[in-house]
Amino acid sequence: MRSMYVALFLVVLCGIESKLIYPSDSGRVYYTGRVDFHEGNVAKFQWSGVSFSINLKNAKQAPSFMMSGVVTNYDVQCGEKLTSFKTSQHWDLRNYTVNCGDIKPEQEYLITITKRTEAYYGESRFGGFVVDEHAQVSKPEGRKLKMEFIGASVTCGYGNLGTPPCESNVDNENARLAYSSQTARMLNADHSIICWSGMGMARSYGDKFPVTENSMPHHFNGTLGKLNSNDWDFKRFIPQIVVINLGGNDYSSKPSPSFEQFSQIYNRFLDLIRRVYGQTVYIYNFDGPLNNVPRLAEIIANRKEARTFYLDLAHVLTEKADRGCNSHPSVKGDYKMAVQLSEFIKKTFKSPVNK
Ligand SMILES: *[C@@H]1O[C@H](CO)[C@@H](O)[C@H](O)[C@H]1NC(C)=O
Ligand SMILES: *[C@@H]1O[C@H](CO)[C@@H](O)[C@H](O)[C@H]1NC(C)=O
Repeated sequence: MRSMYVALFLVVLCGIESKLIYPSDSGRVYYTGRVDFHEGNVAKFQWSGVSFSINLKNAKQAPSFMMSGVVTNYDVQCGEKLTSFKTSQHWDLRNYTVNCGDIKPEQEYLITITKRTEAYYGESRFGGFVVDEHAQVSKPEGRKLKMEFIGASVTCGYGNLGTPPCESNVDNENARLAYSSQTARMLNADHSIICWSGMGMARSYGDKFPVTENSMPHHFNGTLGKLNSNDWDFKRFIPQIVVINLGGNDYSSKPSPSFEQFSQIYNRFLDLIRRVYGQTVYIYNFDGPLNNVPRLAEIIANRKEARTFYLDLAHVLTEKADRGCNSHPSVKGDYKMAVQLSEFIKKTFKSPVNK
């Protein structure tokens, strides 16, 4: 069995020590979030929180990961150890070695790399990973419960590591610690995050018109989030739970959409979610933590759907320490939101899914 595996891989001699290279599409990697495999062995991704995991055993050294793309940060969970690495901007693949501390060959390590930054910063690529020649690599199993979070800055973790006064940047934004990822962990779910700072449902922050194309429904269909790219195959990931936090930006400045405009676009988006994920999907809509969305509760109530919920999270951030950059939640504020949201979901989500 093992020799069959080995035949699949390219064994590269470098000095005395041999290395095994597993390409990103070798079947040994478990992905969460949207990933584009159209370009040969290189997996492209852009949305926040995209992750890839491997199980590693019998290794003497930590693996390295072949990456390219824009400047970004990744968190790395290597067994019990949490570490991170930052990529500079380059479009050729380069090896980034993760710091797992002392690797014990007899121990099995689940290694998960998570993209911390949002789609706005641009594209990232993963070419594969390199381990020492006797290492055994297998694909981790995914969790049964799948969730999708659709939102703006708060859902991305905008500035959640920053100390105010600050603006968000690639170093102080961490999607793995945003309320979205924290909620998914509390519910033991795999999750996909579709978020973009400033984005609205009908109109994004600062747009000149009350309804614009630069809004979430026009980015949502994209594997990489590009405007109207419409290339994502929704069958590849079917969540049982969708969480939406949109509308705050629509009303954060003038000209805001009218109630009719906003509710029509919101309803069309909910219809799309049901069309692509099926009628059984649970949809949780919340406003806050920065402002309430005018009459969102009414829009949701008017749908009269048993599996579509509204939740008010506009009053969760009560302490100074709950906020990071620009009044957005800090990791502590994210935690408070995640507690409220996950409790609400536990109470209302009725599904045979084995958690
Ligand atoms: C990464 O390291 C391996 C082993 O040292 C090497 O064979 C491979 O070419 C490197 N990949 C890149 C993209 O430099
Ligand atoms: C997104 O995809 C859905 C389902 O295929 C389609 O009905 C909708 O028009 C698409 N939206 C955009 C903005 O392309």
